[in-house]
Amino acid sequence: MKQRVLELLSKQQGFLSGQQMCEMLGVSRTAIWKAIQQLKKQGYEIESISNKGYRLIENFDLLNQSELNLKLQTKVLGKELVFFSSIDSTNLEIARRAQEKDHGFLVVADEQTSGRGRRGRTWVSVEKKNLYFSLMLKPEFSPEVASMLTLVMALSVVQGIEQKTSLDCGIKWPNDIVCKDKKVCGILTEMRAEPDLIHYVTIGVGINVNQEVFLEESLMHASSLKLCGDQSIHRAELLASILNCFELNYELFEKEQNLASLVEEYNQKLINKEKDVAVLSNQEDRIGCCQGINSLGELIVEFQEGRLEVIRAGEVSVRGLYGYV
Ligand code: BTN
Repeated sequence: MKQRVLELLSKQQGFLSGQQMCEMLGVSRTAIWKAIQQLKKQGYEIESISNKGYRLIENFDLLNQSELNLKLQTKVLGKELVFFSSIDSTNLEIARRAQEKDHGFLVVADEQTSGRGRRGRTWVSVEKKNLYFSLMLKPEFSPEVASMLTLVMALSVVQGIEQKTSLDCGIKWPNDIVCKDKKVCGILTEMRAEPDLIHYVTIGVGINVNQEVFLEESLMHASSLKLCGDQSIHRAELLASILNCFELNYELFEKEQNLASLVEEYNQKLINKEKDVAVLSNQEDRIGCCQGINSLGELIVEFQEGRLEVIRAGEVSVRGLYGYV
C-alpha cells in the first residue's frame, strides 16, 4: 500500500485528497493514513492540509526500498531488489543469496562496512552519499565470455551518468570510470562457475556520487560526480538510468556473446585511446600507443615499429604516463 500511495503522490503536481486516493486504490481512509505515516518514517516529507489533502515535498536524494521501486523501470534486471541502509558488502550479500535468487537480482546499499575493491583492496563506502550496488546474472554463455560483462557495465555507467548529468566521463580500461582525470567509479565482477558452466556472476559497482570529503591519500586519484559537476545527483534516478542502459547493452551482448555492437561506443568513451600507455607486467614495463579495444574487450596496443599486441584485462595493468589516467 505504501508503495502505491507513494506512486500516486509522486505523479501528482499539487495536493491529492485522502478521499481521491481511497477511490483510486479502493481502500479505506485509515489504510491511506497508515501508508502516509510509514512513508514519513522512511524520510519522505509529506505536507498535509485539511480540505486539500497530501502533497509530497520534493525530497532530494532519498535512497530506500520504496524510492528504488518507484524509479526503476527495467524489464528484468532489478525486478527483485533488496535495499540495506548498511551492509558489509553488496557483492557478499549476492554470494549469500545467489542460490535462491533469479537472474537480475539486485542488492543496493546506502553504506558498506567492508566494501571490496579489485585486487583485494578495500572500497571505502561512506554512508548516505554514494551508490553501492551488485547485480546478479545467471547467463547461459561460457565463463570466458563473462569477463566482458565488466566492460558492458562500465559503458552503461558512463551512459547513465550522461543521461542524468552534463558531466563528461570516460572509461579507463577496462572498467574504471573517470571524470576530470579522477576515478569516480569502480567495478568488481566476481563469478562462481565450473569450467564450462556459470552458476552466477556478480557485477558490483561503487560510484562516488555526492561525497564531498575524501581522505587525503585518495584525493589525488578519487573524486565524486558532485565535486566534478558542482551539483547533487539523485542516486535512485542515476541507478535507474544505469540499469536501463545495462539492460539494453546486455541484450546486444548476450546475442553475440561479444562486444561487437558496443565496441564503437566503448572506444569513444575510452580515455586511453590514442594515448601512450605503460603496460605493466611482472617482467617489464613497456610503453605503447593505445588503439582501443577489440570485440573481445582486449586492449590493442601499438608498440615500436607498428607491432600490434592485444592485452587482456587481469594479465597486466595499464597506466597513462602522467599520473592516474
Ligand atoms: C575497484 O576496486 O575499482 C572496484 C570497486 C567495486 C566496489 C563495489 S561497491 C558495490 C560492490 N560491493 C563491494 O563490496 N564492492 C563493489
